[in-house]
Amino acid sequence: MVSEQIYNEPIYLDNAATSWLKPESVYAAVAKALRERCGNPGRSGHRFAVAAGQILDDARLLCAQLFNAEKPEQIIFTANATIAANLVLKGILNIGDHVITSSLEHNAVVRPLYHLEQTGISVSKIGVDLNCGILIDVLERVVTAKTKLLICNHISNVFGTVNDIEQIGRFCRERGILFAVDAAQSAGCRNIDVQGMFIDFLIFSGHKSLFGLQGTGGLYLRPGLRLATILEGGTGHYSESLEQPEQLPYRLESGTPNTPGLAGLTAGIRFILETGIETIAKKENQLINRLLTGLHEISGIYVIGPELEFERGCVVSVQLEKYSPVQAALILDSSFHIAVRGGLHCAADAHRFMNTLENGGTLRISPNYFNENQHIDCCLDALRKLS
Ligand SMILES: Cc1ncc(COP(=O)(O)O)c(C=O)c1O
Repeated sequence: MVSEQIYNEPIYLDNAATSWLKPESVYAAVAKALRERCGNPGRSGHRFAVAAGQILDDARLLCAQLFNAEKPEQIIFTANATIAANLVLKGILNIGDHVITSSLEHNAVVRPLYHLEQTGISVSKIGVDLNCGILIDVLERVVTAKTKLLICNHISNVFGTVNDIEQIGRFCRERGILFAVDAAQSAGCRNIDVQGMFIDFLIFSGHKSLFGLQGTGGLYLRPGLRLATILEGGTGHYSESLEQPEQLPYRLESGTPNTPGLAGLTAGIRFILETGIETIAKKENQLINRLLTGLHEISGIYVIGPELEFERGCVVSVQLEKYSPVQAALILDSSFHIAVRGGLHCAADAHRFMNTLENGGTLRISPNYFNENQHIDCCLDALRKLS
């Protein structure tokens, strides 16, 4: 039995939205960047601008190392995963092209695709298996001669379903289809090897499992691929030209970047590389298994997601008999000091697919590496009181 006292300590279990529990080194790196190194990178020649430029170089190098990118300049920094997804979709698709996507995607992908559909691009939205994601035989049935791109998430932010990225990547490469992966929920907590997994575009958030700050994210693109720009402007380089430069990363990185945020991202990735992705994934799996085991024992609460024996991401979605997801989240926050998310999680398509839209979506519980068993137990105890 958990004491009531623990509820006075806030418990953050909404890391799928943004990680709030971060390594100490991230806070220190951001403070140091702000106090000592915050010139405008690439825009001046003085020591503070050079130091800020070094922050960007370090961040690019570490992202390249984490994802096994061929060269650091293949990493483009953006303000978030949404912008990275828009860069890919609007930069590569032309009228008449066909694109395949899944029914479990976030609005960061769904909405740009819907917009593009109105302009003459055709979109096939395929169903998935909740336990193991996109199935190859389903893909085989929808590919056409005009299929240019397949875009899907690595891990569903609603149900935690994991796609077999290497298998899907190989399928695409063998057929000359470009492959874009939305790794917002997996970058930092699952192994991602862009070369070994045949990934052409990798879209990532900096502020979730990579432990960076909000306002950071990015895109990897395979060498040789060229995106049309959706934004032009100052790059600090090739300034004499009226045209946006061809060179990466400048071509796709206009305007002053979030240098302190990227200092935090660098510290976050350093922490991940030193700790090891396997260690992080193991701890998260242990927390999730504890949560799932506890939830299955509570009547009136239903887990919607992969069955226990299947791999899943660090998110658990539930519905409650007595409360809507939003009501339950409000009660957990106000009465138990537990921060979880209720609603659609910016992925109405996923709820349409799973018939959870009409009930107001799901209550989503998403721990991370820095949560402890006690946090899970408190959450279970609170949910028991709502069941
Ligand atoms: C699967 C997925 N894709 C994209 C996004 C959008 O990320 P951002 O908020 O960094 O744009 C999210 C955010 O929750 C997500 O979970």
